[in-house]
Amino acid sequence: MSQRSCLSVILAAGEGTRMKSAMPKVLHAIAGLPMVAHVVKAAEAAGATGLSLVIGHGAEEMRKAARKFAPKAETFVQEKRLGTAHAVLAAREAISKGYDDILVMFGDTPLIDAGALVAARQKLAQGAAVAVIGFRPPNPTGYGRLIEKDGQLVAIREEKDCSEAEKKIGFCNAGMMAVAGKHALRLLDKVGNNNAKGEFYLTDIVEIAGAEGLDVVATEASFESALGINNRAELAEAEAIWQARRRREAMLAGVTLIAPETVYFSHDTEIGADTIVEPNVWFGPGVKVASGAKIHAFSHIEGATIASNCDVGPFARLRPGADLRQKAKVGNFCEVKQATIEEGAKVNHLTYIGDARVGAGANIGAGTITCNYDGYSKFFTDIGEGAFVGSNSSLVAPVTIGKGGYIASGSVITENVPDDALAFGRARQKTLPGKGKELRQRFASAATAKKNAAE
Ligand code: UD1
Ligand code: MG
Repeated sequence: MSQRSCLSVILAAGEGTRMKSAMPKVLHAIAGLPMVAHVVKAAEAAGATGLSLVIGHGAEEMRKAARKFAPKAETFVQEKRLGTAHAVLAAREAISKGYDDILVMFGDTPLIDAGALVAARQKLAQGAAVAVIGFRPPNPTGYGRLIEKDGQLVAIREEKDCSEAEKKIGFCNAGMMAVAGKHALRLLDKVGNNNAKGEFYLTDIVEIAGAEGLDVVATEASFESALGINNRAELAEAEAIWQARRRREAMLAGVTLIAPETVYFSHDTEIGADTIVEPNVWFGPGVKVASGAKIHAFSHIEGATIASNCDVGPFARLRPGADLRQKAKVGNFCEVKQATIEEGAKVNHLTYIGDARVGAGANIGAGTITCNYDGYSKFFTDIGEGAFVGSNSSLVAPVTIGKGGYIASGSVITENVPDDALAFGRARQKTLPGKGKELRQRFASAATAKKNAAE
């Protein structure tokens, strides 16, 4: 089948009013990726070599987004929403290029799995003209029913056009189908709009192809993979299903999730075997974790690279550009942004490291802050191998601390510190014997005098 060319036509012209959103429905994200981008991924995984996006509502925003998640996709605007067949025909120019298979998909069905699409394409490879993807929803109301006879699909009847007997059919149209490229335009052009909604129904090509004596079949996909999203409750439902799938995949690949239902992955999270993830961890986009790392509870991680055997959290925040090398440690209430923490370095408590390098084996004390921003520009802090930064120090960038440099606690470091130097950046301590007691007495009598005067 791999030698058969395939065009995926993704319908996404709908307004999605029930999302109650200024943003087009299909751009709402699941696992940090627009739902239509999930559909694109499934199409590609099923072997689609061409991609057409049919857009309408929010066309400019859609085009802009598509440049990111599907740079090779062609977009076609459906000016008026006259039905699903009409929508597919908006991509006429692409379809007429002569693909073997046309896969019609919906932009609001993000959990569709490549396997279901491949199964439909296989039917075309075996000679079918149309292969419709069916499913069995717990409640079929609202879906088109698949009417079969002797292994052939004879019709799809929309709910509004169904007889009482037809309404009892549980096998429904998931919406997506594979159509042989050589028949597609001819069949689509024959579709009329003589139905309850006055729309051009894609589903009519089933009867049209049957009347031509062509082979039309239905395949079956899981309910989940056909889940269409119309509102934010369904969006959350799809997110939950996606997360459950991904967690399971991670666990089967050797990742320990102590409380899997509390760990959230992004669409692109990479995580190696023998990593342990404690409860309540969030992976935003762009995270790569190698094997054998420990991610402790309540950590929030995005755009970060974590090498093997690192230790992160609890309550760590790794922001984009955080690059933890082997055995590095970033502990509780630490934030790391655009910074490399080299091998075995430790940033253990209540610290902000931004725009910096922390050299191998360096130790960053509690409460250390890299002061990287003056309100206009960002500056770099370079901390050498084996350096020791005492607690509660401010490193005012740009600044360099040499290899083995030693910073006294509570320092404000504004000048570079050479290798192996000791730097103090704080006022010297003064101790005055008895002065504490004297001060307390003075304050107490002042307070009494004030109270007496007020009475
Ligand atoms: C469609 C199917 C129905 C199936 C159901 C599964 C048809 C006629 N009916 O019904 O059998 O059970 O999906 O969810 O196909 N769209 C456009 N332009 C249009 C019309 C639709 O781009 O002019 C897009 C929508 O944005 C959406 C998709 O096509 O992504 C499906 O349209 P929708 O109106 O949701 O069809 P249903 O009535 O749900
Ligand atoms: Mg629908």
